[in-house]
Amino acid sequence: MNLKEHLQHPVFRAVSELSPNHPAYAVGGFVRDLLLGRPCKDIDIVVVGSGIELAEACAKYLGVSQEVAVFKNFGTAMFHQDGYEIEFVGARKESYESHSRKPAVENGSLQDDQNRRDFTINAMAISLNKENYGELVDPFDGQEDLKKKNIQTPLDPDITFSDDPLRMLRAIRFATQLNFDIAPETFESIQRNAERVKILSAERIAEELNKILLAPKPSLGFKLLDISGILGIIFPELIALKGTESRNGRSHKDNFLHTLEVVDNVAEKSSNLWLRWAALLHDIAKPQTKRFEMPGGWTFHGHEFIGSKMVSRIFKRMRLPLNEKMKYVEKLVALHLRPIVLAEDIVTDSAVRRLLFEAGDDIDDLMLLCNADITSKNREKVKRYHDNFKLVSEKLVELEEKDRIRNFQPPVTGEDIMKHFNIPPCREVGIIKDRIKDAILDGEIPNNFDAAWKLMLDEGGKLFNG
Ligand code: CTP
Repeated sequence: MNLKEHLQHPVFRAVSELSPNHPAYAVGGFVRDLLLGRPCKDIDIVVVGSGIELAEACAKYLGVSQEVAVFKNFGTAMFHQDGYEIEFVGARKESYESHSRKPAVENGSLQDDQNRRDFTINAMAISLNKENYGELVDPFDGQEDLKKKNIQTPLDPDITFSDDPLRMLRAIRFATQLNFDIAPETFESIQRNAERVKILSAERIAEELNKILLAPKPSLGFKLLDISGILGIIFPELIALKGTESRNGRSHKDNFLHTLEVVDNVAEKSSNLWLRWAALLHDIAKPQTKRFEMPGGWTFHGHEFIGSKMVSRIFKRMRLPLNEKMKYVEKLVALHLRPIVLAEDIVTDSAVRRLLFEAGDDIDDLMLLCNADITSKNREKVKRYHDNFKLVSEKLVELEEKDRIRNFQPPVTGEDIMKHFNIPPCREVGIIKDRIKDAILDGEIPNNFDAAWKLMLDEGGKLFNG
C-alpha cells in the first residue's frame, strides 16, 4: 500500500530530502490514525540514526522559528509547526529492567523498533525514503487488526506488558476509544500481569483514566478494567459499589453498573471531563451509608455529603488537579440529589431559588447529571421523574429571569450592616445577613437594595433595641 498522497505535512518531504543515508519513517499513532481516518496532530518519526540531528536539520529546513526541544537521555527531539507536534527518535532496541519503567536503550533497526511497540495497530510505519516514499511497512499485519477491530501485541503479550505495564491500561483505553476488542491472549496476559500496574505513577494512570472517561462510551473501559483485575488495584472505591443485596424480599440495584450507566448517559450529552468525573463519583459513598430500615427498605442517607468529602482524597491519590475542577466535582456530588428531591415534592419557588443559589453557574450541569441519574427500569417512574424535572427546569428559568439568583450577592453587605449600626464584626452581623438572604430566597422580599435595607433596619431594631 502506498500512502504518499496522505503525507500532507511538509516535514515528510523534508525528512526525505535531508536523510538520504539514514532510512526514516513515520510511525505509531500517526499511521494508525491516518488509516482510520481520524485527525491526528502528533507526528512521530523514527530514523535509523540520530533523531536529534535529523530534528535539528528539519527544523532549519522548514524555517521553524522556535528552539528544538532536545531530550538527550531519551535520544529524542521535538518541535511544533502549524499546530502539529513533531517528534524524532532514533530507532531503538529496548529491554526494560523488570523493577522499573526505565529502559536500557540500544540503537536498532526499523524492525527492532517495531518489535518494541505496544500493539500491532501502533507498530506500522510509512517509509519516507526516496526509493519507496509512502510505502506502508507493516510486519505484524496491523492493517488487518484495524479492519477486524482487534487489539493485540506484536510479540508475546507477557513480554510487551512486562516491558511497560502502562500498555495494559493503553490496551483498555484504545479498546474504549475505538470500540475495538482486545484479543483473548492479550487480555489473558493483562489479567495475569494486572498487579504490575502498581509500579506506574499515579499521573500516568490518571491520564489513561481521563482518556477512557472522555471516550464515547466510557463504561466499556471500566468494565474491562474490572474484569482484568486492574480496577481493584487503582480504584477500589468503584469495586465497593458492586453487587446487590436482598432482605425481606427487597433488593437494591448494583451501584457499579448504575454508576457506569450514568457516566454513559452524561457522555452522550456533554464532553465535559469533570462532569463525567462527577457522574463516576456521584454515588461513591453508597457502600458506607447503606442501611436496611423498615418499612422503607434500603437507604443510603447522606451518601451525597460523605461522597463529596471523598472526592478530594481520590483526586489527591490520583494526582488529579486540586483546584476549581475538584471543587466543581465536589459540589455536583453534594447536590446531585437535590433536583430529584425537588421533583418528587411540590415544586415551590423557594426550594428552586435555594437550589439556584447553591448551584450557581453549575445549575445546568447539575440538571444534566440528575437527568442522567434516572436509570430505573420502571418506565412509569422514569416518565414521572422526567415530567417533574421539566417542571423544575421551567421554574429555574422563570425564577432566574425574575430574581437573578444564579450569582446571587446579597444587596446589603456585612460592611453596610456594621457601618449603619456602628458595630464591630460580631454574631449579630451574621444573623442579619442570613435573615436577608433567607427572606430573598424564600420570596418574602424582592432581590433589591431597598427591600433588603428595610429588612436590615427592622431586624437590627429587634436585635439591638430588644
Ligand atoms: N508506545 C508504546 N508503548 C507505550 C507508549 C507508546 O509502544 N507505552 C508507542 C506506540 O507505537 C504509539 C507510539 O509509541 O503508537 C506513540 O505513543 P503515544 O503518542 O503515547 O500514543 P499514540 O498511539 O499516538 O496515541 P494517543 O496520542 O492517543 O496516546
